[in-house]
Amino acid sequence: MLLASGFRLSVRSLMSRVVAVKGSYGQDVVEGLSQAPRSIPTYYLYDDYGSELFEQICIQPEYYPTRTERQILRRAAPEIASITKTRSLVELGSGSSSKTRLLLDGMVSYWEEQPVYYVPIDVSAGILERSAMALLDSYPTLTVQGLVATYELALADLPPVPDRLVAFLGSTLGNIPPHECDHFFAQVAEALAVGEYFLIGVDLQKDIAILEAAYNDQAGVSAAFNLNILNHLNRRFGGTFIPAQFRHYAPYNPTAHQIEIYVTSDREQTVTLGALSLSLHLSAGEKILTEVSRKFQVSELRSQLASLGFMTQGVWTDSQDWYAVMLLQKN
Ligand code: AVJ
Repeated sequence: MLLASGFRLSVRSLMSRVVAVKGSYGQDVVEGLSQAPRSIPTYYLYDDYGSELFEQICIQPEYYPTRTERQILRRAAPEIASITKTRSLVELGSGSSSKTRLLLDGMVSYWEEQPVYYVPIDVSAGILERSAMALLDSYPTLTVQGLVATYELALADLPPVPDRLVAFLGSTLGNIPPHECDHFFAQVAEALAVGEYFLIGVDLQKDIAILEAAYNDQAGVSAAFNLNILNHLNRRFGGTFIPAQFRHYAPYNPTAHQIEIYVTSDREQTVTLGALSLSLHLSAGEKILTEVSRKFQVSELRSQLASLGFMTQGVWTDSQDWYAVMLLQKN
């Protein structure tokens, strides 16, 4: 489906294929909540209010990943442009495209007056169109070909723009369970031609206190963001969750090298989701997993990616080695 089309902007939606892939609507919620331990699919964190709260998390003093990645990209972007000579930036999970500008600045000044392309990929059509319009205003040589799609669908159907670099920033890689990571990398490899590039931003393993503070900020924004998932389920599926009867809990699991984010029931209670004919009996202290955020090691990722056909061409980190941006080339 073509949502918008102008001389320099087109947006295509692949979302009608999602239901066909995932089964009937809400089935993933029923599955997650019926398992032991219980879980809710992470993407339910990002309704409109959740997305707004996430933007707020990014500016909390304890949440270092966003500003650290931005610092690294500001320094690395000109080098990335000259190493890759890429003409087309494909961004997985583009969101508000705020870090995109740093990469586009590098590309646009490298290519001077010649056309460059941006392919934002996001499940939210609204955010995608708004940020595309703003970018077209700022970059007169830019053409935008957006895809409203999941990563999976988009990677199977990338537009044939020249000399591509696929960017996957924000340590979103950390949300992909380890056993699905190889499959994800293989999909990226499949989507790219030999010689094209893959750029990832990843949060690194570090002192537990720093990690836990980032997911448990003093202002309580992380807690509000997490508990909002219950409001979202209530609205979508006629649920009876009372968020005040749950607590935000986000400890670091040092064995799995990941922050695990839960809502925990502060009492024994029964919750129903009418539209899904689901009734849950929760015990006091019972945890429901809403998100994991893995923390990486550059050397390990580098060899994992090498075994899947990606050669590391550059690694940029901050002075404390808290975060890394890795540039890979498909061979
Ligand atoms: C956008 C998924 C990378 O894992 O740090 C922040 C999301 N969740 N605080 C992260 C998040 C709670 C964030 N990612």
